Amino acid sequence: MADALLASLDGRIAPAAETSIPVTDDGLLRGDGVFELIRLYDGRPFALAEHLDRLAASAANLRLALDRAAIEADVAGLLAAGGGDPAAACLRIVVTRGGRRLLLTEPLPAHPGAIRLATVTYAPPRLLDGVKSLSYAANMLAGRLARERGADEALLVTPHGRVLEAPTSSIFWVPAHPAGGTLRTPPLGDHILASITRSRVLDLVPTEERPCPLEELLAAEEAFLVSTTREVQPVASVDGQALPCGTGGEGGPRTREAAALLRARIAAELG
Ligand SMILES: Cc1ncc(COP(=O)(O)O)c(C=O)c1O
Repeated sequence: MADALLASLDGRIAPAAETSIPVTDDGLLRGDGVFELIRLYDGRPFALAEHLDRLAASAANLRLALDRAAIEADVAGLLAAGGGDPAAACLRIVVTRGGRRLLLTEPLPAHPGAIRLATVTYAPPRLLDGVKSLSYAANMLAGRLARERGADEALLVTPHGRVLEAPTSSIFWVPAHPAGGTLRTPPLGDHILASITRSRVLDLVPTEERPCPLEELLAAEEAFLVSTTREVQPVASVDGQALPCGTGGEGGPRTREAAALLRARIAAELG
């Protein structure tokens, strides 16, 4: 993750580098806790209520107590103190099994314009369905394995060859003719995260939620990732096989359409 700027720990605000939690917290020792990453646009959080809803659902599924009113007050306090910093592009919220509420402002992570993906075999742990938990070591390892193979990021694919998502983003693609035309994305029933950006794109662009065999993606007319930090990011290649993504890597027509619609929606929601 990017270096954090300012922290709020149980409501106490201080530079992130000077903030610490007890070493006995099971959030650290066992990855037992929940988190959210929210985008800040000029200091204003996008889709805050939905992120807090997902945080509350994650905590309930994990049987973790969560004080939403206290977190809302923490968010307001931290944004008042540090949201104006132009470097503060994200707000992280973490709730640990040890009962800590940790919020951080962070810069935007660096993302390449068009992304090269490498497939990594992954079986989602059913028990963590509907939980954005702190146990992200597998997601982070998948990215590392992909980079060892010369790619930028992993694409998680089941042992049976179904494309799921990337470690921190969802995937959309336009299948080749004759199936071509309608945008597709894997269904939430494939045990992927209920991404907030994915739900916005589903609202904006007619999309079929369908399981994705890897061969269908490899033959796609275009594909893109979506997430809070990237918005829409064209996919340049999968396992070294190039996908059409515009001459300058700006994405094919459907990718650019989704990116423009999402950007307009974000601006409209921020008002
Ligand atoms: C596994 C996974 N899928 C998808 C996403 C994208 O979700 P969102 O659009 O809510 O940022 C994330 C975000 O971190 C993620 O961790």
